[in-house]
Amino acid sequence: MGILDYRRMPIEIEAPEQFGYDKIKCNLAESSVYDFNFSDIDFDLKDLKLAYCDHLGKQELRESLISNCNNLIANQVLITNGAAGGLFIVSTSLLDKQDHLIVVSPNYANNIETPELIGCKITKIPLKVEQNFKLDINSIECAIKSNTKLISLTTPHNPTGGVLSKEEITQLIQLANKHNVYLLFDETYKGLTEGDDLPFLADLSDKIITVSSLSKAYGLPGIRIGWLMSQDETLNEKFLAAKEQIHLTNSILDEEVAYQFLRQKEYFLDKIKKHVLDNFQLVEDWINENKYISWVKPSGGVVCFPWLSKEVDISKFYNILNNDLGTWVGPGHWFNMDDRFFRLGYGWPNKEELIKGLENIDNAIKQSI
Ligand SMILES: Cc1ncc(COP(=O)(O)O)c(C=O)c1O
Repeated sequence: MGILDYRRMPIEIEAPEQFGYDKIKCNLAESSVYDFNFSDIDFDLKDLKLAYCDHLGKQELRESLISNCNNLIANQVLITNGAAGGLFIVSTSLLDKQDHLIVVSPNYANNIETPELIGCKITKIPLKVEQNFKLDINSIECAIKSNTKLISLTTPHNPTGGVLSKEEITQLIQLANKHNVYLLFDETYKGLTEGDDLPFLADLSDKIITVSSLSKAYGLPGIRIGWLMSQDETLNEKFLAAKEQIHLTNSILDEEVAYQFLRQKEYFLDKIKKHVLDNFQLVEDWINENKYISWVKPSGGVVCFPWLSKEVDISKFYNILNNDLGTWVGPGHWFNMDDRFFRLGYGWPNKEELIKGLENIDNAIKQSI
């Protein structure tokens, strides 16, 4: 066995793209907005030289990502292979067996899985239903030890859709300064909600590492473009060295697509935001009228994490929903939670698919009581 004993995670094994998009009638399991087509972007790539590119990533792409930042400069942005690539670089460059990590749970699986493979000490800070999935900053402070290296947070959060407030972020920065630890903010879902056009959080402090990508809010998961941002030059040097050893550069084609897309960002974002808002309204109305489902209303991103009431026979529910009705949601075990919870993604399906999918959930519930 190698130094990291890799194992596949349920969320990846059972992902819709692995099962086959064509076999799913109503896909409410996705965590992104709808995927764009190549032809949706207005550009011509015929003259693009297929050379190695800048190891940090295309300069203009990095500049466009920090255009609203006050402190970050383009050389403090590292383009990575999706946010997943960025998270892997952070975990493997920062964490060792002796180190201690504080990480929010539930979470996107990689935020927990890679540190577990590394074998560092981990304290999971649970987001509890009784506390409306709100982050308990006090319990983070209590968990800090002398070997704590990193506090790992996701905002907007997957799977709950919770968003950290400005005050909470200020408190977390104070904690990081006081105890000399890094803060990792996974901001992969940033960009869709009111006030979400603020700079990435790494702009606020040299203790913050931002990870994000074009996969979720921008519907470009297939080009695998994400980034790391940090004002800490020692960290940046390490992150670049890690990238160079893993895959040297990104694909120049992917970077060009990303850059051209961002040049037309406002046009795409207007449409995306309207779609997300309309779909969200449908979900909110549906939940409010549904006596077998509860939720904590999300504040950002495109997912929420509702749960089924006790009357519902869970295995019957998923069996009917998946096998009879061809409808997919993200079951709780994708996030190490009870399957009574499920992630519902409302940004990906079109209106008709969403309405039909919600109707199918209702039918599966009726048949499982
Ligand atoms: C919170 C979070 N971070 C990172 C990722 C990875 O995204 P990507 O590698 O496509 O940018 C995901 C994907 O689901 C996610 O939910």
